[in-house]
Amino acid sequence: QNVHHYSFFLRETNFTRLCTTKSMLTVNGSFPGPTIHVRRGDTAFINVHNEGKYGVTIHWHGVKQPRNPWSDGPENITQCPIQPGKNFTYEVIFSTEEGTLWWHAHSDWSRATVHGPIVILPPSGKTYPFPEPYAEPTIVLGSWFNGDVMELIEDALATGGDPNISDAFTINGWPGNLYNCSGESIYTLNVTQGKTYLLRVVNAIMNEEMFFAIAQHNLTVVAQDAAYIKPVTTSYIMIAPGQTMDILLTANQSLSQYYMLSSPFFDSDAEFDNTTTSAVLSYEGNYTAPTTPVNASQLPAIDDRIAAYNFSSRIRALATEEYPINVPQNITESQRLYVTISVNTIICPNSSCDGPDGNRLAASMNNVSFDIPSTDVLQAYYRNLTNVYTTDFPVRPPYYFNFSGDVGNNTLHPTVGTKVKLIEYGEPVEIVFQGTNVLTAENHPMHLHGFSFYNVGNGFGNYNETTDPSTYNLVDPPEVNTIGVPKTGWVAVRFFADNPGVWFMHCHLERHSSWGMDAVLIVKNGPTNETSMREPPAYGMPSCS
Ligand code: C2O
Ligand code: CU
Repeated sequence: QNVHHYSFFLRETNFTRLCTTKSMLTVNGSFPGPTIHVRRGDTAFINVHNEGKYGVTIHWHGVKQPRNPWSDGPENITQCPIQPGKNFTYEVIFSTEEGTLWWHAHSDWSRATVHGPIVILPPSGKTYPFPEPYAEPTIVLGSWFNGDVMELIEDALATGGDPNISDAFTINGWPGNLYNCSGESIYTLNVTQGKTYLLRVVNAIMNEEMFFAIAQHNLTVVAQDAAYIKPVTTSYIMIAPGQTMDILLTANQSLSQYYMLSSPFFDSDAEFDNTTTSAVLSYEGNYTAPTTPVNASQLPAIDDRIAAYNFSSRIRALATEEYPINVPQNITESQRLYVTISVNTIICPNSSCDGPDGNRLAASMNNVSFDIPSTDVLQAYYRNLTNVYTTDFPVRPPYYFNFSGDVGNNTLHPTVGTKVKLIEYGEPVEIVFQGTNVLTAENHPMHLHGFSFYNVGNGFGNYNETTDPSTYNLVDPPEVNTIGVPKTGWVAVRFFADNPGVWFMHCHLERHSSWGMDAVLIVKNGPTNETSMREPPAYGMPSCS
């Protein structure tokens, strides 16, 4: 097990996309930011120097950080922000993850420009459970905003209205040539005919799930969220914000150039601009390049939920002796959380807000819209501070929710609070996420820090607590850190609460998280030192005032 050291300098840098030049926050001046390379079981110390204009934190998405919530990063959940002029060293502890993950800022909307891949190789002496690829390019799907993202979300939250959810999508930082005024540049992946590549794909997009395809090429997905799966060969993938996939691509077509395309999957009644970002897969060799690359016609339509479902439902854990799974087989009723996830509104005085009916847009879990405290929850928990949070996060919706009836059966206006759920160390846990249709119905990629969980079941419509548990896959459920809950559908996940600490749980669509579709799970210490949270770093956490 090796120790790595990285320095991240957060600084404003000028970038031009869509004919718009703006200054934006970056790490070490690059967009996307630098890649972290480790092996399974390593530790990385990352010293983050904030030379920007506002306080920022960094999160290591999908890294479980055993017993170490101190370096997890969500702002005002496990730490206060690193203020301009200050620095903080994260100790990022890798344990069972292997594959691709990513890091991103976890303060307001700064992650739009502050993110990058994490590549976790097998431990030295070990190989992949598939043939060694010729090269391993990272493919980061991102969002581009012509405006300043921090101002954009502050304005939206102040008025209660809907923020602009992006002006373009990007592949490795470039929108590609299918947008107006985007001739600046395009990402090109050069390949050698006959070779196999491992694409390490990250969806760092702020607000949309994406389809992704390469013209005339099949993709073989071998890992998701840094856990191996049974290989799935497909002509397109669907990937939600927060998710990562490792994909084998064999350059087995004739010498030419092929489009690599990504477009949104937006299963909602709401309109959304159907824009497609492009990159090029370019074969090396002697040939006359076509005037435009070969088109990826297999990309599904924006609202093709069947295509999205057909792909997602094929994912199964590798689940071999060498890569075993550890899914709780039995759950008692008290170990099951039912969580409705809704977009709703909060009443504005004199109906003066910019949301529907003059109200303020909000989002909630079990009808609680999460209020981010000004002192971080971890510190409050560790120091027994009162008045930061309460421990009454409801384990069911607080009103009668007809799990086999009307998905609209939810109140329109949530309560607001900083409610956490306390869990005993080592307990098996099941969470059933139930999508609703209060204001709008759409998909929600739900993400939990500190764990990966097993996706044991899912379905459209309402969860049926009598019949659905018998349909669960407890044999080879995929182990993920972010799970897409289908529009007005449900998803059930299971895990053992074997990581003591304070762990954020939220929708990875940034506008929903900003509106309060968040909660915190606190896993209590176990009986020994090895089953308890570590002490805070000796050099101190960023101060909260
Ligand atoms: Cu990728 Cu809490 O986030
Ligand atoms: Cu959501």
